[in-house]
Amino acid sequence: TVYRASTTAPVNIAVVKYWGKRDAKLNLPTNSSLSVTLAQSDLRTLTTASCSATYPEGDTLILNGEPSDVSGARTQACFRELRARRAALEAADPSLPKLSTMPLRIVSENNFPTAAGLASSAAGFAALVRAIANLYELPASPSELSLIARQGSGSACRSLFGGYVAWRMGEKADGSDSLAVQVAEASHWPEMRALILVVSAAKKGVSSTSGMQQTVATSGLFKERIATVVPKHMEAMEKAIKERDFATFAEITMRDSNSFHATCADTYPPIFYMNDVSRAAIRAVEQINDAAGRTVAAYTFDAGPNAVIYYLEQDTDIVVGTLYSVLGAGIDGWKQSIVESLKQPA
Ligand code: DP6
Repeated sequence: TVYRASTTAPVNIAVVKYWGKRDAKLNLPTNSSLSVTLAQSDLRTLTTASCSATYPEGDTLILNGEPSDVSGARTQACFRELRARRAALEAADPSLPKLSTMPLRIVSENNFPTAAGLASSAAGFAALVRAIANLYELPASPSELSLIARQGSGSACRSLFGGYVAWRMGEKADGSDSLAVQVAEASHWPEMRALILVVSAAKKGVSSTSGMQQTVATSGLFKERIATVVPKHMEAMEKAIKERDFATFAEITMRDSNSFHATCADTYPPIFYMNDVSRAAIRAVEQINDAAGRTVAAYTFDAGPNAVIYYLEQDTDIVVGTLYSVLGAGIDGWKQSIVESLKQPA
């Protein structure tokens, strides 16, 4: 017998960034973070998990059609946690098939090019964890699953919810209180839109995992960021989302992105994720807001040069129209854009 379950998980883009680990093994962060989950329609991972006593080769993982390494510590941590929970169910009910002892086969597919340089580990580990949890019929809430997905990739814990999601850093050494919670459903603010400017499809130079370790070890500015900047941003951001206050949402989003990239520049040796096209996108957003006489767009950048622009549906013409005419006109490196509407994931 082959047992099987499938699920999808969407990409999320942080507006208050996770950057820094206090425990690299458990992926425990130095600060809380907050993100917006994108619609499944364009950016998601589809994962099928199956298990069978007849699988000959032990655990296997296929990513976008290519056999991939399952022996990595992060994947192993997720498998171990999920198997332990299944084993507990089997111990309590001996009539259940012993899935926890069978080899796992994971087949995972992104519906966007990995080469687009967009964060795929968040959707990837969220889908992997939920697919196996479904396969094992675990009675786990999304927040409980977020504890496991976090060990795959920190940002993955936020992709188990749609809408607006906070990852509470927690304080316990075992990580049992470092989990994701939903701050608001996508339907709370249905006008929210995100435009992704793919500035470069190249793979990022310094991975986020190693970049944040270098920042924690060497940046003085980082200490200020986690002690005062992020707590202030988290509070203001949650309030702005609850009140659907776009001007504040936008200002905190841009300030937090700037603060994060400033700590990267303050890392020794410095880390630069943004390039000239990224900076042109920042200037374009400022120009759009100036011309509108109010804040209609916000930029944010992760550990790479691509921009994500948040705006409201009613301002699509001024935001998207101006971005195309300013950036599309003659800037090298402008490759393509993906317009994403934000909907509640299925
Ligand atoms: C800049 O979640 O990729 O996108 O936990 O080491 O896998 P690991 O890091 P990862 O870091 C994401 C960093 C970020 C900000 C964010 O998503 O909050």
